Amino acid sequence: MAGVIGRQSGSPRAFGSLFDGIRDDMVRVEELLRSQLRSADPYVDQLVKHGFRLGGKRLRPALLLLAGVAVGSIGSAHITLAVVMEMIHTATLIHDDVLDEAALRRHLDTVNARWGNKSGVLLGDFLFSHAFYLAATTDDAYACRLIGRSTNIVCEGEMRQINSRGRLDLPESEYYEIIDAKTAELCACCCRLGAHFAGATAAQEDALERYGRNLGIAFQIVDDLLDLEGDEAVTGKSLGTDLEQLKPTLPLIRLLNQLSPPDRGALQTALTSATAERRAILEPWLARTDGLIYARNEARKFAAMAQQDLEEIPPGPHRDVLHRLAEGVVSRNV
Ligand code: IPE
Ligand code: IPE
Ligand code: MG
Ligand code: MG
Repeated sequence: MAGVIGRQSGSPRAFGSLFDGIRDDMVRVEELLRSQLRSADPYVDQLVKHGFRLGGKRLRPALLLLAGVAVGSIGSAHITLAVVMEMIHTATLIHDDVLDEAALRRHLDTVNARWGNKSGVLLGDFLFSHAFYLAATTDDAYACRLIGRSTNIVCEGEMRQINSRGRLDLPESEYYEIIDAKTAELCACCCRLGAHFAGATAAQEDALERYGRNLGIAFQIVDDLLDLEGDEAVTGKSLGTDLEQLKPTLPLIRLLNQLSPPDRGALQTALTSATAERRAILEPWLARTDGLIYARNEARKFAAMAQQDLEEIPPGPHRDVLHRLAEGVVSRNV
């Protein structure tokens, strides 16, 4: 039963009715995604289809479309680019699951768990290259340049994160730089593209890019909280991997900063030398400090900044949806 509920929550309904105003365009996105992702080779075909079978939350294509309707209207470039951004996002997830040695994604086995790391790396490459091919079909150098640059920044963020593993003294500022790059950058890019292709003014494009970035930062902080306190049956992905991989995330960074130097040293040693059950080691410290609450408040602050960024956008129901989406990103459990 939990699995069934989880699967429903992991669908594009994760943000309730917020995508209702773009429902028809989201259907076009889904159709284009499906039609693009196939191969004549049965092995490749099953891999390519795997990550899309149950679907994720589809936040990036929705951001691109919602930014568009907030300032103008949706055209065929929006649909193509929404598909491009979802492909890039999925490629990063497939590679990320190899890095994190994760077993579950979108309520399915990860590609690495079912077919091995080599297939995961190659499928990620397939999706990246297909996305760039598809972006080029718009014949729009601006879109290609923006997407290329953003994807590069995402990869840089993931590489910086690899290098941060085990560094339990990571400053908050570096944590923010990493999540800005690995997560917020793509959300910012989606919002800018959506605005640009709907004929936004330069000020509106900038404002929506800032909105996407602040929302993306809030989104990743909440993701890091879910990794500690979420429910796998609901999120549909492996949780606890941040601790397993000794990734310093905001709740842990805050917790460690609150301890006296001897306590901090003792916890760092305990976490670093443990091979399993790091969550159990952390439990009493989580109860003694405000790491979880602090991180949630920080996410709220970024969501509020995203809402502020919307002041540049004409008031109306579409702006309201973006406003509520910033809240939805913080209150989500999926
Ligand atoms: C997961 O993204 C990776 C992060 C940036 C935290 P999502 O939570 O949007 O994943 P899907 O697309 O819904 O599966
Ligand atoms: C990865 O962050 C974000 C990407 C850019 C892929 P996480 O490692 O926290 O994402 P999840 O939790 O596996 O989805
Ligand atoms: Mg991961
Ligand atoms: Mg995570």
